[in-house]
Amino acid sequence: MAERGIAVFGAGYIGLVTGACLAELGHRVVVRDINPERVRILRAGDVPIHEPGLGEMIARNKERLTFTEDLDQALAGAEVAYVCVDTPPSASGDADLSRVWSVIRSLTNAQGLRAVVMKSTVPVGTGARARVLLDEHGLSHVGYVSNPEFTAEGRAVTDFMSPDRIVIGQDDATAGALVVALHTGIDAPVATMDVKSAEMVKLASNALLATKISFANEIATLCENTGADVGEVLGAVGMDHRLGAHFLRPGIGWGGSCFPKDSEALRQMASNTGFHPQLLTAVINVNNIQKRRAVQHLKDELGDLAGKDIALLGMAFKPGTDDMREAPSTVLAGRLLAEGAQVRCWDPLARPAAGEPWDSVTRFATPQQALDGVDAVVIVTEWPELARLDWTEAHTLMRTPVMFDGRNLLDPARLREIGFRYTSVGRP
Ligand code: UDX
Repeated sequence: MAERGIAVFGAGYIGLVTGACLAELGHRVVVRDINPERVRILRAGDVPIHEPGLGEMIARNKERLTFTEDLDQALAGAEVAYVCVDTPPSASGDADLSRVWSVIRSLTNAQGLRAVVMKSTVPVGTGARARVLLDEHGLSHVGYVSNPEFTAEGRAVTDFMSPDRIVIGQDDATAGALVVALHTGIDAPVATMDVKSAEMVKLASNALLATKISFANEIATLCENTGADVGEVLGAVGMDHRLGAHFLRPGIGWGGSCFPKDSEALRQMASNTGFHPQLLTAVINVNNIQKRRAVQHLKDELGDLAGKDIALLGMAFKPGTDDMREAPSTVLAGRLLAEGAQVRCWDPLARPAAGEPWDSVTRFATPQQALDGVDAVVIVTEWPELARLDWTEAHTLMRTPVMFDGRNLLDPARLREIGFRYTSVGRP
């Protein structure tokens, strides 16, 4: 395999995983970030995010993987530039592409460059605009490739190294082939297409995954209303090979850095073309309601929540990550505080943003401490620690043994036997 020089722009989740994995595949990689503190941490050998296997991979490849703030250093020897910057929602609801454009403009003097690869999630049509910008900046010889990532947090390294497919959207077959060759060593089918289609694959994949979960959540509510057991129902539904068993777990709603942002961006993109996407809108609405349903369950058990002490176990949007972006726990904490409850919480990793609601929530080092004297507990994130917890002991710590298991993590019969007033999602 030919070793290539690669510049990765952005040392966030995607940039770090992409940079580390490309170095692992044998390439020389410089990751550039404009945040000096982030670069300092990485140079010191620390990893500023929690991602299994990433720290070891970075350490293992330190000869080939460097970090810098300096643009010239990043571009020296770079044949391929990866854009891995964030594209947050803007005030208008469209994706804010300002960081993407600033990276592309900064490439002006990179005469050795042969391809620009877009990893950031962007609206359809971004590649065409990038093409114009590259041409205006004297980079007509540089091909543009859309290579969306499908990595899930907590398994990003595995997802990069063993993907279901590699999607290559190319406006120039030579650049596309160069990017495919960078993945030599990875055994996966390559889906090659035009740039716009590749951009759409990413948005459509996330929207369909979110659709499956919202569907599961809606069926769970129907199960609650009719006495069916959603675990049995979707377990058997998922055995149909045409449907598949994945992403049919009902819960407290989907969150994270991708699904909420990408589904909104897709809806916004559709609206910009004068089209109202009804299914996607419903998928988003079902999720917004789902995040609030736990509050109703608690009210059914406790009545007025004012003055009640409620423990939230788990804050991160899923286990195995410290990421709090769009975590359902934030909506839940805010709603409970608004109802006048006192909220206590536990999570082994989560790093909530400063400000409300988390400034008004007391955090404890162990689940037991969070449960001490509370009127109810909500399982928000399915951390393995909670599956293993001694619930018989936990039961004795609580003032009233009310539990809403928002992830269907525990066995209802066992919890009721211990004495819990236990409800979960879609299970009788
Ligand atoms: C997701 C996609 O999986 C990934 O391909 C894309 O690149 C980014 O978005 P991620 O956000 O890391 O990855 O998490 P994921 O594991 O997919 O879970 C997303 C959310 O859905 C979580 O809140 C999770 O709890 C929830 N979920 C997932 C369910 O509620 N039920 C399920 O069956 C699956």
